[in-house]
Amino acid sequence: MEVVVVPTPEDAARVVADAYTALLHATASAVIGLATGSTPLPVYRELARRHRDGDLSFARVRAFLLDEYVGLPAGHPERYREFIRTELEQHVDFAPDAILGPGDLEVPPLEAGPAYEQRIRDAGGIDLQILGIGTDGHLAFNMPMSSLASRTRLKTLTPRTRQDNARFFDGDIDQVPTHCLTQGLATILDSRHAIMLGFGRGKAQAVREAVEGPVSARWPASVLQLHPHATVVVDEDAASQLA
Ligand code: F6R
Repeated sequence: MEVVVVPTPEDAARVVADAYTALLHATASAVIGLATGSTPLPVYRELARRHRDGDLSFARVRAFLLDEYVGLPAGHPERYREFIRTELEQHVDFAPDAILGPGDLEVPPLEAGPAYEQRIRDAGGIDLQILGIGTDGHLAFNMPMSSLASRTRLKTLTPRTRQDNARFFDGDIDQVPTHCLTQGLATILDSRHAIMLGFGRGKAQAVREAVEGPVSARWPASVLQLHPHATVVVDEDAASQLA
């Protein structure tokens, strides 16, 4: 695991965009893994800028989302597929149908996990996976105590997660879906390069546990210590508890 500490999220975005640029210049048909949430937004803005400047094309790239709510109708603004459409897809040149989320398969939710894993395998695996980290160390919707061997699956959202996410649903927990589909921790470990980002003091403990703590389901992001090529890019606040 390599740890890169930079002054600001914008600096981090340039570091991560450099990794995308190197990958896409070497392999125009690369497969990338996309995260939602606030953390990757500076990266997506930087990728869009490089695309506008003519440095980067996604025309032959395929992308897989980390996770998705179950039960939100297509086009719902809180669907993660919709988030990626607004924050990245609309600003670059992906081919139609190049981006797939675990909620996009025409199968019942219980069958979606294995079907999604198959789609990732059929694409040749994920070359570069971008990740955020939760304050409790979660990765995707793999909350504390998720199995380190987990694969893409249907999960019940905990009351705490639903309460935390209610702010995106008019503050009304009843509007927050009760289930999600998420890549598992072992799925994430299969990516050829994983880059985890963390910004702000609120992430400092989780970053410390992920990087310096024991590998433990208590802090799911610590599984990245087992990844053969993991890069952690954090700002100084998020790095403030590192030794
Ligand atoms: C995103 C995801 C989540 C977020 C995490 C951090 O697809 O699955 O694990 O990465 O909750 O969220 P932010 O970036 O909003 O702090």
